[in-house]
This record gives sequence, structure tokens and C-alpha cells, in this order.
Amino acid sequence: MRTIIEPFKIKAVEPIRMTSRTEREGKLRGAGFNVFLLRAEDVLIDLLTDSGTSAMSSEQWAAVMRGDESYAGSRSWYRFEEAVHDIFGFRYVLPTHQGRAAERILFSILCRPGHVVPNNTHFDTTRANIEAAGAEARDLVIPEGRVPAARHPFKGNMDVDLLRRLIAEVGRDRIPLCMLTVTNNSGGGQPVSMANVRAVSAVCREHGIPLYIDACRFAENAYFIKLREEGYADKRPIDIARELFAHADGCTMSAKKDGMANIGGLLATNDERLALEQRNLLILTEGFPTYGGMAGRDLDAIAVGLREALDEDYLLYRIKSTTYLGEHISKAGVPIVQPPGGHAIYIDAAAFFPQIPPLELPGQALVAELYREAGIRAVEIGTVMFGRRSPESGQETPASMELVRLAIPRRVYTQSHIDYVVEAILQIWERREKVSGYRFLEQAPTLRHFTARFAPLSR
Ligand code: F0G
Repeated sequence: MRTIIEPFKIKAVEPIRMTSRTEREGKLRGAGFNVFLLRAEDVLIDLLTDSGTSAMSSEQWAAVMRGDESYAGSRSWYRFEEAVHDIFGFRYVLPTHQGRAAERILFSILCRPGHVVPNNTHFDTTRANIEAAGAEARDLVIPEGRVPAARHPFKGNMDVDLLRRLIAEVGRDRIPLCMLTVTNNSGGGQPVSMANVRAVSAVCREHGIPLYIDACRFAENAYFIKLREEGYADKRPIDIARELFAHADGCTMSAKKDGMANIGGLLATNDERLALEQRNLLILTEGFPTYGGMAGRDLDAIAVGLREALDEDYLLYRIKSTTYLGEHISKAGVPIVQPPGGHAIYIDAAAFFPQIPPLELPGQALVAELYREAGIRAVEIGTVMFGRRSPESGQETPASMELVRLAIPRRVYTQSHIDYVVEAILQIWERREKVSGYRFLEQAPTLRHFTARFAPLSR
């Protein structure tokens, strides 16, 4: 059969409240044209993030009922630890309430002012936690990874020559660890090849630098390796994941992605001394090491979710349904980051609206149109999020790309929801020349995208 179906039946439903265009226009104005300020009930299709938004399976809900809420040594912890050991293979595992808590513990122990941490591309919280420890976060993705239209099967790969050059330039002693983010979220959800993991690992081992994986979307990355890398077509995703982690010394993970859970995270390492230090910090800020900021039921939901994320029927549907959205809009000419990533489609808003210059916020304009047209919530990843404003002169420097991310929650939307999204994007595409930009009305000094308010510019 050519049709790929959702490999699940629906047992519980959450109604979507339909809204009219006039109603949405009012809500959008009320929110200062910032979709972060909308109420979720006023959104029809919510593609803001794939993080914590997954639908849990009946097995996960059953596991939730089995959750053991004992403070210390709960059965839920042992089931969680067993699943993490089995898949990731690292010796020491700490549970955290989400990914950034694992990052904070890892970097606050390892990083000092003057240190440099390389990654293919740091996610914002990763970068922020490294910088909070006084160190510098350096992105070393391959050149193709910086060009939206460039096609490469593993566009998330790290540039190994740049890594070598960085080590030669700053010296091994100033690099406390190296990271690889799989898949590369900030670079379009693009995968990293096993060959690249092997090469990065070899350079790190040669210099005695520990390699950590940001494992948020490890199952999607494993499936891309199976589909695209020679020698992996017949391997199971779990074995590919195990091989990948075997090249590393530890990992951080937000279980809100490929953990298929609504909350949770973990930090793992093979280094006994480091694990002890991490454990002490965990107790100070997250909780006792057998729950670390999570309820027992969350640990159980993740233990089941990690295995479900590696199921091949699920992964086929997951990757194909994201690709389906990407291909249907790009066939009609809509410029997207190519090829489609694992968890999201990124529209190149600068190319979508060439008449809107970066400082008139083309990504913001597209986000507003998506909500106005069809009640779809997406997120701007461009000048609103990453532009810089000089506090003295108020002068704006635009971001390097103007992207809009449509992140697909796991197991939540069906093909007809996605067809609706395609139709809405194509309708905006038809009238793209008539759309104009926005300006900031209010903005906070940091992380302004969450709370800023905007005004439309008329042309
Ligand atoms: N690393 C990556 C690659 C991520 O995508 C995220 C979260 C984190 C770390 C932090 O995890 O949210 O559990 O603290 N990404 C979400 C997103 C928020 O929308 O892409 P967290």
C-alpha cells in the first residue's frame, strides 16, 4: 500500500473549538500580534512546539497508574533507569524535570569563564546555560546547514575540520566538553550521520575531550540514519541509537520530545566522579536522585515512551507525515528549509515575502497570517527571536535567517489536519504580495519574542 496511515486508533479526544476569521482578527489584535500571548483554546492547530505536546499512548496512561510516588527508591525510578540504561547505555543516570535542568547541572559543573563549548548548533537553552556559566557556545555545523535551500542528507553534521581548528586555536584545556545535538533543532531538525558522530568522537577522544549528545530527538535521528546512511537499512532504530550513544561519554535529554512525555528529562554520564558531583547538585536544586524533580508517574510514562519512540511503524509515520507537509507546500513553490526535518517544517519567510525587509519582521508577518487565515499557531525564528537591539542607540541588527517553524506534536494531528495546514499556507502564498510587515511596540531586554507586542505596518 502506498498510503501511510497513522499507526494508532484514537481512544480519547480533545475537542478543537472552531473560530471565525473575524474572531481571530480580534484575538490577534488583543495579543499585540504575538501568538505566544493567545489563549490555547483560541488556536485550531497548534504547531508552536513539539515539546511536551505529544499524545500519550494507552500503555503510557496505564504506566501512569502504576506510578510509585515513594520519595526514595520508587519502582517507577527503577523502570525508568532500566529503560535509559538499555537504550542509552551510559553508566550513571539522573532524572531532571526537563532538558534545561540537565544542561544547567552539566555546564555549571564543567564550564568556567574562558571555556568554549562546540556543538553542531546549540539550542537556545543550551547556549544560555553555557553562557550563564561564563563560557562561550560555538556552533560548528557544516556550511550546508546554514543555507535553507541547500540539500544534504545529514545537514545537521558538525564540520570536523572546524572542530580540529577550534581545538588548535583555543587549546584542549579550554574545551571542557563537546556536544552534538541530534537532530539539529536550531538548524531545521536535520539529522547527524553515524559517520559524523564517529568522526567527531574520534577527534574528541584523541584530545581527551568528553563528547555529550543532546538526545532530545535521538529516535528520529536514528531513523534518518536507517533511511539515508549506507549499511543501516536493515538495522533496528534501537540498535542504531545504541551505536550512536556508544561513541559518546554522556547525554542530556528533554523527555518532552522523543520521550513522548509531557514533562521530564535526564542527564547521563560514564564518568563516576562527575556523576557524584552532578548528583549533589541535583539534590540541591531538583530533588532526590531517584525522582529528580519528576513524579513517579512521569518516570513511568517516559520509560514506556522512550521505547515507543523507537517503534518502526511509528517512526515511518512520524518522518513521512512531516515530509508530507514539507513536500506539499514546497511543490507549490513555498520556500522551506530543505530537505524536510524530523519534527518540523521551517518556512523561509524572507524568501516567502521578499517585499518585507528583515527589520520589518517577515517571519512575524507570516506567523500572524497563519493565525488570521486558519487559526494555526507557528513560531518565528528570525529577527524577533534572534535579532539584536543596541540598548544605547536602539539600532536593530537582523538575524541571519528569517524562519517560521511549524513543529508537529507527536501522534496528535491526523492527515486531514495537515491537509488543512497545507491549504492555509497555499492561500497565503497566493496573496503573498499583498502582505506587509510589522514593527515592535514593546519589547523586553532579553528573550523578547515571548512577550513583545507588535503593530502592523501599512504599505
Ligand atoms: N535541546 C534541544 C535540542 C531542544 O530542542 C530543547 C527544547 C532543549 C534542549 C531544552 O529542553 O525544553 O525540556 O528544557 N526545545 C523546545 C522546542 C522548547 O520548542 O524546540 P526543555
